[in-house]
Amino acid sequence: MSEATVIIDRYGVMGYPVSHSRSPVIHRLFALQTGQEMRYELLQVTPEKLETAVRQFQRTGGKGLNVTVPHKRAVLDLCDLLSERAATAGAVNTLSFRGSEIHGENTDGIGLLRDLNVNLGVPVQRSSILILGAGGATRGIVGPLLEMQPRVLRIANRTVDKAQIIADHFERYGPVSACGFDEVPVSEPYDLIINATSAGVRGEAPPYPEAAVSDNTFCYDLSYGLSPTPFSTWAREAGAAKSVMGWGMLVEQAAESFEIWRGIRPDTAPVLKQIQINA
Ligand code: ATR
Repeated sequence: MSEATVIIDRYGVMGYPVSHSRSPVIHRLFALQTGQEMRYELLQVTPEKLETAVRQFQRTGGKGLNVTVPHKRAVLDLCDLLSERAATAGAVNTLSFRGSEIHGENTDGIGLLRDLNVNLGVPVQRSSILILGAGGATRGIVGPLLEMQPRVLRIANRTVDKAQIIADHFERYGPVSACGFDEVPVSEPYDLIINATSAGVRGEAPPYPEAAVSDNTFCYDLSYGLSPTPFSTWAREAGAAKSVMGWGMLVEQAAESFEIWRGIRPDTAPVLKQIQINA
């Protein structure tokens, strides 16, 4: 009798560049913890090769992909079915291959909310929120934040038009508005300020609005690093109550993807601890 070939389910993350991604480590830890047999690969793919690479991964038996910068919007066009969150965000970070179909989901916003609500105990309901930046990261989080019914949600961006387009798109879901960094109304400081710009990745700290910060303000950087990001340093110096980096969101969005693929939600706390130690 011939030996049966064991086929291990394949997953991966596609981005450009992608070498810095912690997703392979996180998913390996989830798989170990939950006893799932799976493989998770790092896939560096240029925008021109995105469609070919996704279809090839699917054709060769891939089960699911995470999609990161700069592909989160482009990959929408490849999906046969979009979750409501992905459709509303206009961005996808999780693909599932179901037979010949590609299903697209966005777990970024729910990942952020789980980190805020469950891990950090930061209330969103009835709070005043300021988001800095108006790119793909902002698109992913505005819908889920509005679902939690904040009192106000303002998007400030260097290029005001981009913030306005996002605010117009989400206006039917809640009280959202747009402005430039120097136009942030500061009559009342914000409860929560979220940095969703990519400025910190290049070590830049734009002129963030200091008057928006009080000693009750919680500052959250979607970026993360071994040492404090420029935004978290700025927030501390501006007198924020607390300033955290996005490690928790990274792990929580990964856990949501893992659950979509494997039907089991891993315990995120030990994984969060481990990747911050071994970052
Ligand atoms: P992502 O998908 O990570 O959100 P993106 O779509 O390229 O990336 O968006 C990057 C965001 O960071 C934008 O809001 C960008 O501002 P502009 O719309 O004005 O380009 C913001 N950003 C990047 N570098 C910045 C800097 N040095 N100062 C201020 N904003 C910056």
